[in-house]
Order: sequence, then C-alpha cells, then structure tokens
Amino acid sequence: MINTKLPRFYYGGDYNPEQWTEEVWEEDLRLFKLAKINIVTINVFTWSLIQSDETTYNFEWLDKVIDHLYQNGISICLATGTANHPAWMAKKYPDVLSVDFEGRKRKFGFRHNSCPNSPSYQQFAKELVSRLVDRYGNHPAVSIWHVNNEMGCQCYCENCEAAFRIWLEKKYGTLKAVNKAWNTRFWGHTFYDWDEIVLPNLLSEHLDKNNPDRTAFQGITLDYYRFNSDSVLDRYLDDYHIIRKKDPQTPITTNYHGHATYKPLDYFKWSQYMDIVAWDNYPAYNTPISTTAFRLDMMRGFKNGDPFLIMEQTPSQQNWQPYNSLKRPNVMRLWSYQALAHGANSVMFFQLRRSIGACEKFHGAVIEHAGHEQTRVFQEVSELGRELKELDLTLLESRVESKVALLFDWENWWAVSFSSGPTDLLDYVKEVQNYYDAFFNQNIQVDIINSETDLSKYDLVMAPVLYMVKPGLSTRLEAFVQKGGLFVTTFFSGIVNENDLVTLGGYPGELRKLLGIWVEEMDALFPDQKNQMIVKGQFGALKRDYECGILCDLLHSEGAEVIAEFGDDFYKGMPCLTKNQFGKGEAWYVATSPESAFLEDFVLSLCKHKGIKPIDEVPRGIEVTKRTCDGQSFLFYLNHTEITQKIKLKGESYKDIISGKAVNSELEIPSKDLVILTEM
Ligand code: GLA
Ligand code: ZN
Repeated sequence: MINTKLPRFYYGGDYNPEQWTEEVWEEDLRLFKLAKINIVTINVFTWSLIQSDETTYNFEWLDKVIDHLYQNGISICLATGTANHPAWMAKKYPDVLSVDFEGRKRKFGFRHNSCPNSPSYQQFAKELVSRLVDRYGNHPAVSIWHVNNEMGCQCYCENCEAAFRIWLEKKYGTLKAVNKAWNTRFWGHTFYDWDEIVLPNLLSEHLDKNNPDRTAFQGITLDYYRFNSDSVLDRYLDDYHIIRKKDPQTPITTNYHGHATYKPLDYFKWSQYMDIVAWDNYPAYNTPISTTAFRLDMMRGFKNGDPFLIMEQTPSQQNWQPYNSLKRPNVMRLWSYQALAHGANSVMFFQLRRSIGACEKFHGAVIEHAGHEQTRVFQEVSELGRELKELDLTLLESRVESKVALLFDWENWWAVSFSSGPTDLLDYVKEVQNYYDAFFNQNIQVDIINSETDLSKYDLVMAPVLYMVKPGLSTRLEAFVQKGGLFVTTFFSGIVNENDLVTLGGYPGELRKLLGIWVEEMDALFPDQKNQMIVKGQFGALKRDYECGILCDLLHSEGAEVIAEFGDDFYKGMPCLTKNQFGKGEAWYVATSPESAFLEDFVLSLCKHKGIKPIDEVPRGIEVTKRTCDGQSFLFYLNHTEITQKIKLKGESYKDIISGKAVNSELEIPSKDLVILTEM
C-alpha cells in the first residue's frame, strides 16, 4: 500500500541546478531556506546530460545535487528525465522522432516529442529509469517520483500505425467488427486486411490543417485518440512499473498539463495509475476564477476526492502567453490558497531560479535574474512559505465533500468535437463550464465525475451534452433516479454509443425512457441568433423568460412535464425544459443552451428542491469552499474582488487558522485576501 499522505504541505518547485555552477547551488539553498521551501523537483530535462551515448552514463552531478539537498533537509520530487530524448539518440535512432498531424517527420528539437511507440525510445527510457531507481530508489530524500513531464505527444509514424492495428485487433478481435464499429460501408471504406488501416491525419481522414477535429470518420479518429492516449499511458506505466518494483513505497505521479482539460489524454483513465494526481496550474491573464476552480475540482475528481498536488504554477508571470501580465500583489498567495480550498495539498512553482537562456528566461521564478531576496516576488513567496509551515496539519487530511456531481467525460468530449454538424458553436468544455459556473457563483460545492464514477453518494447529477452514452451508463442513471436522485441532461445527449454510432429509434436514444421525451429534430442557431425559454407555471427561483441559443431541440413529451417552452420561431410553444418523474426521482432535460441567468436560477432551484445548501451566501467575487476532517470544518473565504468585503457569518465563534485570531459573526476581508475559518 502506497502512503500518499503528505507529511506537510509541500512547498517548492522545479529546480534546474544543472544550468548553474556549484557556487550558485549554495546560494540557492540559502534562499530556499529563507522561503521555507521544503521540496524541489529535479532532473526533468536532463537525459542528454546523464547519457552521452548508448552506454555512457554520468550520474555524479546528480549524486551531488541530491546529497546537497538532503543534507539541507529538502525533500526531492525526482523526475525520471525521460521527457526529452538526447540529440545523439535522434540522430542514430530516428524512430524516436515523431511524425506530426500533417505527416511531417520531426527533427531533433523542442521537447515532449518522442514517439510513444518507438522501440528505441522505450528501450533507452527503461534503461535510464532502471539505473535511476537503482541509484536513488531508497534515498531518504526522494519523496515523490515524477515520471516524464506533461506527457502527451500525438504521433502518426509507421510504428504508431502498426501499433494501432494491434491495438484494434485486441479491442475488436476481427476486422468485421472494426468495419461494423466504424460504419465503413459509408464512403466505401470496407477493410479486408489490417494493413489497409492507416492513421487518421491530414493525409487520410482529415482535411483541415487549421481544424484537426474535422474528420470524415469519427469512429476512426475516436479510436486513434483512445489508442494514442493509451500509448502514452503505456510509457508512463513502463516507468511506473520499473520504479515500483525497486521502490515499493514512494508515491509516483506525473504532472498534468495546465489546460487540465488536455484533449489528447483521457485523464480520468490515466488517474487510475497515479498514486497522487499532480497538476500544473497556469491561469492566463484573462482566465476567469471559476475556470481555475473547475479545473481544480476536476483534479480532485480524478481520484474520487483524494487530495492532489499543485506541481507547478508561476510565482509571477509566464512567458508563453501573448500578454504575460504579473500576478498582482497578493494574487499568487490567493490563488495558491484557492488550490488548497479545492483539495490540493501542495504549492509548487515553476521555476525556482530563472534560467539565463532559451525560451523560459522571461518566465517568472522564485529567484529572479537579480539573484537576491530583495524582490517583491521573493518576499511574497517566503511570506507564503512561513504561513504554510504553520498551517494546521488536520487540513492536510481534510476533504471536500459534495452532493452535486457534474459529469465530464473525455471520450464524450472527443466525440462531440469530431462531430460534423449540427453546429460549430458547440464546445463541450464550455457547456460543462457554464453549468459549473452556475454552482460556483452560488458557492455550491461540486464534484467532477466521469461516466464510470459511482453515483450513489450524490443527490444531484448533471451531465450536460451527454452525446455519447457508454455501455451500462443509462442503466446506472435509471437506477440512480429510481432511488430518488435528481438527474439533468441537455440537448445533444443520448445520440450515439461508444463507437459514435447513432442509437436508433429516436433521440435521446438510451436516455429516452428516463427523460420521458422524444427529440425529433435539432435546429442550429447562428452566432447572433437567439430564442427564448418561456417558463410555464412555477419552479423554484425560475423567472418568466430567458434567452437561449446554439442548438434548439424540437421535442415531444412522452410523459415528462413541460416546465418551459420555446418563445420564438416555427417551434414556438414546443417544450425546451422538461421534468420526468421516474421512480422516486426526477430526470430533467434542457433542450437548448441557456443564458447564465437561467442556469443560476435553475441549479439553485434544483438544489433547494433537494435540500442542498450553498456553503454560504456572500457577495459575488468571494469564493467559499469547505474541507472537512472528522467533523471539523475548514471554511475558505477568498476575496477575488478589488475591494474589501464584509461578511456576516452564520455561526458565532470561529478561528482564522492563518492568523490564529478569533473571529465572531462578522468578517472583513481585504481585496485579494482570504481567511480559513474553523469553528471553535
Ligand atoms: C510547463 C512545463 C514546465 C515549464 C512550464 C512553463 O508546465 O512542465 O517545464 O515549461 O510549463 O510555464
Ligand atoms: Zn510514432
């Protein structure tokens, strides 16, 4: 059993001593101590330094680094170094080089571009990791293994093509089954030999280089995405198994991409193989707070609510955005606590010392080019380090609990985005985010789940745009509602099975009985075109009418109660919001994409109906979350606004665990500040 319980809040980040002389290492240590840094990630992009040819390895510099850190009491998050193959390897073993979507073979350069199905890459990477674990597997300073780095190459080379055919054979057994699953009689695609199957890229099923989603054969592209995600996962697992064999204890992870909703990899599937989920949190200059919150909840959702790591964030600015604005004073601290508020147990930065050359020299760092501690950023980092060191350790063990689940499924996402029609305006991530925002804005805690998650602990399950209904899901949803659960889904749901083949007999296919409706047609609206939702009768906080757009379903009730109707066009008067009593519960259908005012009123009404309460009612811009441990609650109030906010608390007697001060029923939080309250 791997112990993923952290001994303290990890605080630190990516450290590249290989770019510096040993005198600088001494200075680094002094500064790390000042900033209360307790963990550093090393060895991320060092393969070429460790291995200069097939047989020559040089670990001495790494021995020194590791011992130096250990002697100074700093824990190590040790990367495998497999994130970037060396130049000599690319020259001598060109199969390590990937082929891109346009069919071009890459040359050496950049990073994260090794072909996952390259035999040479696999052999050399395994050898490197074996040697690394032999050497450091039992080193007391190594506290986390960090496989590779932000994995995720999509490759279209011949090795991948061959591996794809094997993957298909394993999945489908026969070509007949493949032909059926992909509906290959369409456009004369029937395959008679496995070798006739080629990878779907710009040279085959795709035509638009600016829109890689546009495919002629959804089934093929969908299976390629599954296959590629699995191929990259297999490389993670190669490293995982080598480490685990020799080091039975230390948690192993890899860092997930900053987008979180990183399309090439099915992170829900991946997370089964993470001992602890780790994320690189890089909000852009214009990223809404709720977008970060959604991603944070997703990280927690990947492993059913387990705490996760923030493996990277910038202390000040990025280099790769169009406008790399600085994090304003106190914002780095506020956003670090936002991560904790959603279940993270670490705050780690990219990077600890700013490099002097190449593309990340303008990326923020704890130690700036000035090289000393007299900087705003360093001061803020060390202030936060001091606070985290003192933080109540019960918080480490606490979890975020929720009665509401929002379903986000990678394969569904792929399928929706590959769909040709009914509209280019439909963006799955955005649709789910819209629903998330409605909860977020009212401080109702949400878990992010996928199609496989057990639903039994939830009262309300929302699955916007559940286009693909995977095997068994409709039965599980029916059982959930039957027992009293509240289920909500929307337009463009229940359309296809896991192979992107339409479920015949009327939309929403497998969900039709549960929802008590039949969708006959779908109307796609132009970007500036709107319709109205006219509410009939009364439901909770719903008002008389709302705007909607993107898609409008023309549907008939088959037993569901009509709560709202379209207000315009030739389908004026047809249902756009329905509720179906099913067993002890209800199944709702939202037949269009509504404005946010509707979503807020709607989710609030549903929650009231189910007795699910907001954690607190506070002015907009204050984020409130709750972590609990054995009956003890930690309430986070984060003031994202530009002004001081006054809040009237429900209880009488709290303690702010950061300042240690007692708080009565009134709270004043300055702009970009926060408190974490626990009841006394
Ligand atoms: C990613 C990588 C890091 C670094 C940062 C910069 O998250 O993992 O190596 O490049 O981006 O923001
Ligand atoms: Zn390849």
